[in-house]
Amino acid sequence: MRSVKVVRSPEEARAECDAARVRGERVALVPTMGALHEGHLGLVREARKRAEFVLCSIFVNPTQFGPNEDFERYPRDLASDVIRLEGASASAVFAPDVAAMYPPGDETRVRVGPLAAHLCGPYRPGHFEGVATVVTKLFAIAGPCVAVFGKKDYQQLAILRRIAIDLFMPVEIVGFPIVREASGLAMSSRNAYLSTEERSRALALSRGLSAAARAFAAGERRAGVLRGLVFAEVERAATSVDYVTIADADGLVPFAEAADVGARAVIAIACRIGHTRLIDNLVLGEDAPIAFEG
Ligand code: PAJ
Repeated sequence: MRSVKVVRSPEEARAECDAARVRGERVALVPTMGALHEGHLGLVREARKRAEFVLCSIFVNPTQFGPNEDFERYPRDLASDVIRLEGASASAVFAPDVAAMYPPGDETRVRVGPLAAHLCGPYRPGHFEGVATVVTKLFAIAGPCVAVFGKKDYQQLAILRRIAIDLFMPVEIVGFPIVREASGLAMSSRNAYLSTEERSRALALSRGLSAAARAFAAGERRAGVLRGLVFAEVERAATSVDYVTIADADGLVPFAEAADVGARAVIAIACRIGHTRLIDNLVLGEDAPIAFEG
């Protein structure tokens, strides 16, 4: 196993990417906040298929956390993340501190449009502006590259695709399918917060999505009915539900209850299990059914 180089400054990260391109290598970027799991490593392996040089960033970005969110207690373990990245054949790790990404005087922010109007947008004011800002910085540091993001954060992926187009970023955005545990639970760094009992309650998200996918496969197209199947499962298990929304898979505009969803639609969930906020989604008419163990 080749050891990965860890760099701390934007200048060093840029120099690594520039040097790779000079060697004739393609560059891939995989932005993360660390506490890496198989979902993240899936992105790295996908990146490695598309590029000889894979830069993985690990940065818990303060501007995307609300004042009452988990920025302080977000899990951080750089040493074990680096070992995992070596196993997944990353080339380099960019692990800046907050002052490196937001030096004194920093004030520019990337404002996001209507793609942030629904789903998580209203529940996490400023979140997508923080994501958009930090990822724009990462794109500027990496330069021409392919950047791989998970469909787990479906709205984030849609917003970042828009940013790459609107700001003429020399970046090809690739979406990677949601990696799930054998139970169906979507992998997340925040799953570490769940107790055993909460973990089993959390299976309601993937179970609800599966119920909707089965109904869709059997011909159901009424938005209210499909949404209701998911909501019933989630409401029973969750401490609170932020939303269960069925929306246009590209523009992310919710369908009215009585609408016909047509050939393709995203169902997205955000809820709390105990104190932990979980999200999940499925694109009806596109995603493979969720596989469950047993
Ligand atoms: P983070 O939550 O660490 O996720 C990093 C990347 O891994 C994102 O693209 C996310 O969609 C993907 N990912 C997480 N869990 C996944 C799963 N189970 N299957 C597939 N992909 C998964 O998303 C962020 O960090 C941040 O907002 C970031 C983009 C790094 C900006 O700060």
